[in-house]
Amino acid sequence: MDAFVIHGGRRLRGRLRINGSKNAALPMMAAALMTDEPVIMRDVPDLADIRNMAKLLRSLGTVVEETGDQQRKMQVTDPTQSLAHYDIVRTMRASICVLGPALAKRGQVKVSMPGGCSIGDRPVDLHLRGLQELGAKIHLDEGYIVAQAPSSGRLKGAKIFLGGPFGSTVLGTDNVMCAAALAEGTTVIESAACEPEVVAVANMLNAMGAKVHGAGTPRITIEGVPSMHGAEVTVIPDRIEAGTYILAGAITNGDVVIDNCPIDALGAAIDRLIQVGIEIEVLDETDPMRATIRVASARRLQPIQVTTQPHPGFPTDLQAQIMALLCLCDGNSIITEKIYPDRFLHVAELLRMGANLTRTGSSVLITGVRELIGAPVMASDLRASAGLVLAGLAARGTTTVNRVYHLDRGYEKMELSLRQLGADIERVDQDAV
Ligand code: EPU
Repeated sequence: MDAFVIHGGRRLRGRLRINGSKNAALPMMAAALMTDEPVIMRDVPDLADIRNMAKLLRSLGTVVEETGDQQRKMQVTDPTQSLAHYDIVRTMRASICVLGPALAKRGQVKVSMPGGCSIGDRPVDLHLRGLQELGAKIHLDEGYIVAQAPSSGRLKGAKIFLGGPFGSTVLGTDNVMCAAALAEGTTVIESAACEPEVVAVANMLNAMGAKVHGAGTPRITIEGVPSMHGAEVTVIPDRIEAGTYILAGAITNGDVVIDNCPIDALGAAIDRLIQVGIEIEVLDETDPMRATIRVASARRLQPIQVTTQPHPGFPTDLQAQIMALLCLCDGNSIITEKIYPDRFLHVAELLRMGANLTRTGSSVLITGVRELIGAPVMASDLRASAGLVLAGLAARGTTTVNRVYHLDRGYEKMELSLRQLGADIERVDQDAV
């Protein structure tokens, strides 16, 4: 197992380009199941989760090829394969996003029920309810979700409410939207997730011949079509990767230029960072999903309140990273987690680095400290690990972040990106440290 060894205290300087979005690319790859024709995707990040999705699609009768740098070609050649096996699903919860596409196109599918997750319970009840309202018969069989379309082979359009106790559901919206694209008649999804990744999936479906309107708003209308065709699409840049590197510049008092930065999808994060006192200068916003910005930070930072919310609110996927920054602000900040109330595995590790944090329920009071001190730390999820890397970049001394495989799920060669900006970070074999 790999670890990162970080010698902290270096101001990051330089230029970096943001990769394609993991959380857009995963459901987009799954949408390739909805046609027999080839689908070509560009700007696909090279990540463990993407390789897992490719493996899952292969097991579902799809040829997945790397046809160029960050380019994948997918084509279904054996639609009789309808089993998403536990062995793959347990490595990646996002596997659930094959459910809607495969059910709509093949009329039946069996997908392992995703298990527990370190950031919370993460049920899939809303996905299943939405598909049932489209006429699917669904039952659980030995840990598998078995879903079947009506005897005509096609699902039926319906009015569906997708809100849950923590807002809507991103992958649930994708699943229902994909299933409805090939259903008979019109579907209206109310309380749909508004995340940019949902818009990316809707745009891809439309490029494949679907008729989806309103993605990015809480009401999505889908006029079902009988069949879809191949397409060539480009993945949007990753707003969470962008936010993480903006915060890397900020926490090290750096001066960093970021290209291919989706500022249009980062409104809440940029607002919070400006409140903290980070300078964010937009150098080019010809395309606000692919802007160039400069992040600089030199003065003392102000404390703030952050509440994670569904988009366009502050993203839960940047909560651990901004917590690292707030540890070094002057005064008391509060973070309240409204998506995953238990997503605080990084708190205990930040305490080991000298942070002053008090958790009460789903909130954490952060009392700024003068400095963080390097330590060996371990995280058990992707974004918590990113938060610890940021803390390590700012800390005095050496920080070892263990279990880097979590980071490799969502950040392409993070150590190289950070080194490019002047960080002293190295990937080593954990057992050798
Ligand atoms: N929820 C339900 N029932 C459901 C589905 C969700 O109650 O059927 C709850 C969840 O427990 C959670 C909230 O609704 O409290 C939102 O969950 P959502 O379904 O939107 O999450 P997701 O679609 O499974 C995606 C991202 C996550 C990100 C969340 C929230 C992908 C592959 N994953 O998950 O990303 O945190 O949306 O924005 O798109 C990550 O990249 O590190 C990551 C965890």
